[in-house]
Amino acid sequence: MNPIVTILDASWRDDADIREEAVSALESGRVLYIPDLGFPVEEDEKRFFDDGFLQLSSKNVSYDPSTGDVRGLKSTQGAGDTDKAALGKLLARYAQFTRDLCAELLGDFAARLDVARTSFRPVEVEGRKARTVGSDDTLLHVDSFSSRPMAGRRIMRVFTNVNPAGKPRVWNVGEPFEDLAKRFVPLMRTPWPGERAALRLLYVTKSYRTLYDHYMLRLHDDMKGDSTYQRTVPLTRVELAAGATWMCFTDQVSHAALAGKYVLEQTFYGDVEHMARPERSPLKVLESMIQRPLT
Ligand code: SIN
Ligand code: FE
Repeated sequence: MNPIVTILDASWRDDADIREEAVSALESGRVLYIPDLGFPVEEDEKRFFDDGFLQLSSKNVSYDPSTGDVRGLKSTQGAGDTDKAALGKLLARYAQFTRDLCAELLGDFAARLDVARTSFRPVEVEGRKARTVGSDDTLLHVDSFSSRPMAGRRIMRVFTNVNPAGKPRVWNVGEPFEDLAKRFVPLMRTPWPGERAALRLLYVTKSYRTLYDHYMLRLHDDMKGDSTYQRTVPLTRVELAAGATWMCFTDQVSHAALAGKYVLEQTFYGDVEHMARPERSPLKVLESMIQRPLT
């Protein structure tokens, strides 16, 4: 099955079937690809398309739509403040763009999603040195946060490639979640007694790490850490064109970013109970394999 479902911008406007199909495709672990939906970057914002310009301390500039806080720029004095404000405006516009898109395309489903952080990803992925295997996103993985327990909640991400030179974002998409879970979960250890309480006490996690988060993090790390798996698992290489938008549940879709720079991204969180097909969510798939509640 092709992991990519292509739909044209606005084709869903008068077509409820397309909207329903879009939700179903997302929940089935497919990537919804809209090749003709770009995001307009304004003339004076094009200065951010310069590698040396952004003094990055991390690989992204990130923005919190609920507070307006911009992070990831090294310099915050003088000209830095102007850049910070300008980038904040760009990211706020992108956050609104993705909210509007989800509301139109996903209908009721979108109304129940929570808006999380927005990011700008200006660094070329190809050849980028990752500090650890765990932080190397060129390796196939499902998304899971080490410090922010999700307790079963979903992670949905919308991306737009705004590369001015027309360079695609290249992804690999791996096997379905059910298959990767079947492969890795039987080999996994359960948490050590007291492990998750200690992580909380030491402020490693922002709240208690649920069993769900334990297993999702192990999946993330074990997938990335298994070089044979990375070499041999069936995958689909996809070119996500400049001027295109795509979205997927990144906690479910096995993905790796291989090349490209200048991508905007918006994260949404959603409750499993609000899914049209909760049984397809990582939480329910893992619970049915492990045979116990994980949250
Ligand atoms: C990732 O979520 O692993 C990276 C996706 C991207 O930046 O293209
Ligand atoms: Fe990821």
